[in-house]
Amino acid sequence: MRKVLKKIVFSIPGGPEALAATRARKRRRKVNALRRRCYAADVANDIRYLNWHREGADYWKLSSELIFQHHKLEKGLCLPPEARAWFGRTAALETFRLMEEWKTHGFDRSAPVYQSALGILAAYRARLEGIADDNPERLELIARITAYLEDTAPEPAYATPLPARPAPEGVLPMLQELALARRSTRNFTDRKVDPAMVAEAARIGALAPSACNRQPWKVHLYDDPARIRAMLELQNGNSGFGHTVPLLAVICADQGSFFDSSERFEPVLDGGLFLMSFLYGLQAQGLASCCLNWAVPPERDAEGHARGDIPPEHKILTFLAVGHPAPGAVVPLSGRRPLEDTLHWHSETASVTSPAAAAAQ
Ligand SMILES: Cc1cc2nc3c(=O)[nH]c(=O)nc-3n(C[C@H](O)[C@H](O)[C@H](O)COP(=O)(O)O)c2cc1C
Repeated sequence: MRKVLKKIVFSIPGGPEALAATRARKRRRKVNALRRRCYAADVANDIRYLNWHREGADYWKLSSELIFQHHKLEKGLCLPPEARAWFGRTAALETFRLMEEWKTHGFDRSAPVYQSALGILAAYRARLEGIADDNPERLELIARITAYLEDTAPEPAYATPLPARPAPEGVLPMLQELALARRSTRNFTDRKVDPAMVAEAARIGALAPSACNRQPWKVHLYDDPARIRAMLELQNGNSGFGHTVPLLAVICADQGSFFDSSERFEPVLDGGLFLMSFLYGLQAQGLASCCLNWAVPPERDAEGHARGDIPPEHKILTFLAVGHPAPGAVVPLSGRRPLEDTLHWHSETASVTSPAAAAAQ
């Protein structure tokens, strides 16, 4: 029937053009409907999860807000000498308020986030004590900090700030080697991945920078073949090799780390920075990986959360296949664009030329 109709349309003058226009309209309608569903889901998601409103004990949001506040003090202590000596009163008061909330909920005072607060307050007190004036607000801050430090002593590991340290000699060729060695791999052996290697890679991942050091990343891990299969059914980029994946990681960002919608891109950016370091951490231990896009409509995203037991506030950024490469596995060259496509200098003197190329001229 379709074939007959098509034949008729093609026999009429202007028929093929009308058919093409109808198809284009249909495609546009479909794309627009998807766009509306995606943005509506994003807005609903922002309203629900991108805020620090807390009911009861919410460790994640409280720890995020505490880091956000005490990090203001910590970075203020690392500015050049011409910066103001006396700064940070509001951030310090907010830090006290959040530490009180921490205590009210009975959260562990030896936890890294609380210990970091103590280490930072100790350094901030030293700065305040070095100022020669009798400002009552400054003296009150010193007294309050002293009370916190007497209540729980900060562990030496949380002392801050630290001397800035240069990269070790000879590290650039090693980094170049590692970057060249990491290629998306789509052929794994069935050897299990040692969880200690995943932990080591995550330790490296966690050294990535993040907005106000809130470290929103979360990684959900699956090594059961049936579970992996169920998850990969929802993903469109693993055909031909999904069955070889021994470990599936789902890289997420916890949106509860962020205060409002103005931060809506931070989960993706911070999570991406974690991901890159995590990939290098895996590669450095002989593991291979392949990111698997999570470019899905909202309904499928919800299904991914359900199948993976992933809380809704953990925004899924990408799936990641991890494993030992199969013997003789090959990888695409995936040639890179020239640097001119990337670097856009707005400078009278600098250009795209690398130091090595400049030296060779
Ligand atoms: C966010 C993201 C999603 C990706 N999704 C897929 C995918 O679904 N399937 C796949 O085979 N490769 C996927 N890749 C891998 C890319 O194709 C690959 O990174 C790119 O071609 C560069 O190659 P390289 O990773 O080997 O350097 C993805 C990569 C990223 C960063």
